[in-house]
Amino acid sequence: MIQTPTADAAGHAADPSAAVPALSIRDLRKTYDNGVQALKGVSLEVAEGDFFALLGPNGAGKSTMIGIVSSLVNPTSGTVEVFGTDITARRGAAMRQIGLVPQEINFNTFEKPLDILVNYAGFYGVSRREAASRAEAELRRAHLWEKAGVSSRTLSGGMKRRLMIARAMMTRPRLLILDEPTAGVDIEIRRDMWRTLRQINADGTTIILTTHYLEEAEYLCRNLAIINHGEIVASGPMKSLLARLDVEGFVLDIDGELPAVLPPVEGATLVAPDRHTLELDMPRSMNLNRVFAALDAAGIRVRSMRTRSNRLEELFVRTVAAPGQGGDQA
Ligand SMILES: Nc1ncnc2c1ncn2[C@@H]1O[C@H](COP(=O)(O)OP(=O)(O)OP(=O)(O)O)[C@@H](O)[C@H]1O
Ligand SMILES: [Mg+2]
Repeated sequence: MIQTPTADAAGHAADPSAAVPALSIRDLRKTYDNGVQALKGVSLEVAEGDFFALLGPNGAGKSTMIGIVSSLVNPTSGTVEVFGTDITARRGAAMRQIGLVPQEINFNTFEKPLDILVNYAGFYGVSRREAASRAEAELRRAHLWEKAGVSSRTLSGGMKRRLMIARAMMTRPRLLILDEPTAGVDIEIRRDMWRTLRQINADGTTIILTTHYLEEAEYLCRNLAIINHGEIVASGPMKSLLARLDVEGFVLDIDGELPAVLPPVEGATLVAPDRHTLELDMPRSMNLNRVFAALDAAGIRVRSMRTRSNRLEELFVRTVAAPGQGGDQA
């Protein structure tokens, strides 16, 4: 499940200077002390400059992976390299290239935004003078400069989250990693953060973010990997993964029992998971009347119908239903 960041979509060899990926993970495994296998052999590459989404449901292993990459969690086996630097062999050098934005707000809310940034940089050995100039630049980019001197307790939820990002940027990381930066925040705050993140990426920083929301990944990211139960089930360019969603899925509840043999409907797939339910897959462009006509002719009465509405779930269903077609993999 490894992408090929050194070749573009047409297969042309890319600029060799871009050949070292921002992140390279090989066969990463993590079994926690309680026996939970959180990662079961994950391999993945993120190219420099990318905006990459790690997508997956609760408990999939996203935070475990981010924890390992940022040296907060020890891997059971496997290797991780950040811009070619092994995180185990040269931990300090690898960490200096990473900025981490954890899910929970974890700065001292009694400090002022400017002090939070300057002190953080100082902790990483940046001189006070340099830290002060970086802090101004980061606060301006985060649209927080006018809040530099207020108690950060008084910042709104969205401002607090932008401050977390500004803080992570103080060490000038080449790779910014965010763990569910928008979990549980309202849509306005989310959009606000999206703007900031896009700006940071446009300014040259590689970004990896984990999220539950396909819509968020779709809006922000060029490439993504989907992780489920500790395994990558799909990865590749956003566009090619979303192309699979041109097929629409419905669940039909049937009155009475289904016949033993289902009528064929050209262009669509009908599956009966039980005697009272039909699952219908068809291209978005197809007319539903044709399906109903065929069902009607076979004496099948549809009582109700719903779409499989969650697009991420939809993508999972398609990924699991079509193994080996998990995106553009080498
Ligand atoms: N410190 C720990 N000790 C034991 N098990 C853990 C620990 N941390 C995570 N796990 C388990 O490992 C699995 C993966 O968890 P992880 O936190 O990596 O998932 P996630 O994808 O980040 O989920 P979420 O979206 O809910 O944050 C889960 O089954 C979780 O219960
Ligand atoms: Mg998590």
